[in-house]
Amino acid sequence: MLIYSFSSPEAVGKFAANLIQAQVNLKPSCVLGLATGSTPLHCYGELIRKYQKKEVDFSQVTTLNLDEYLGLSPKHDQSYRYFMEKNLFSQVGLTDKQTHVPTGESQDSEKEARDYEKLCLSHPTDLQLLGIGANGHIGFNEPSSSFALSTHIVELTEKTRQDNSRFFASLEEVPKKAITMGIGTIMRAKKILLLATGSSKAQAIQKTVQGPITPETPASILQLHQDVVLVTDLEAASLLNEQDLPLGTEWRKEA
Ligand code: F6R
Repeated sequence: MLIYSFSSPEAVGKFAANLIQAQVNLKPSCVLGLATGSTPLHCYGELIRKYQKKEVDFSQVTTLNLDEYLGLSPKHDQSYRYFMEKNLFSQVGLTDKQTHVPTGESQDSEKEARDYEKLCLSHPTDLQLLGIGANGHIGFNEPSSSFALSTHIVELTEKTRQDNSRFFASLEEVPKKAITMGIGTIMRAKKILLLATGSSKAQAIQKTVQGPITPETPASILQLHQDVVLVTDLEAASLLNEQDLPLGTEWRKEA
């Protein structure tokens, strides 16, 4: 794992956008795995600026999003499809045909999960962008007794529902279930770019990098991936212990 820490969330976003731009320029027909949430917003903003300046061209790119709430239509302003359209797709020329987000409204959500996994298998991901939950979740893979491997339906924990309730009118409106890529789906990506900002993520980052690999901290599995870049701000990196990094982990302090 390669860790870069920066002084601000804006710098994290800029650096992440540079890495995604490099990926797209290197392989214009690449497959990008994408995430929602507040963490990638600076990165998406930077990508939009680069697109406007014609520094990056998404016309051949395919995207696969990590997850979606169950029960929300793509037009619901808290659905992840809506989020992606608003914050990235519509602003960089990414069309419906190029972009994939699991369907939250399917009549048969188990079948939707199986179909989405097949879609992921047929579009090997070149670069997977991830945020991390305060409890160490990635996608909606919540702390659990075992790693769920393929795309599946998940019951959201109260912690995650509370964390996400800031985007809804009330906690009651936050869906109780979601569809998410599994840990196995995520781990197949050739490269993983994990972003973390803010002190609320510090403990999850410490456990992800230096803790035991356990389904109790789903992101800890990333220690086993061969190409992970973790980009943090100083707050999210504040509990990392430089003297005690696992073998093969390098920390570059950019600020
Ligand atoms: C979003 C996702 C989640 C978020 C995580 C962090 O598609 O899969 O795992 O990355 O909940 O969310 P923020 O960035 O809002 O703190």
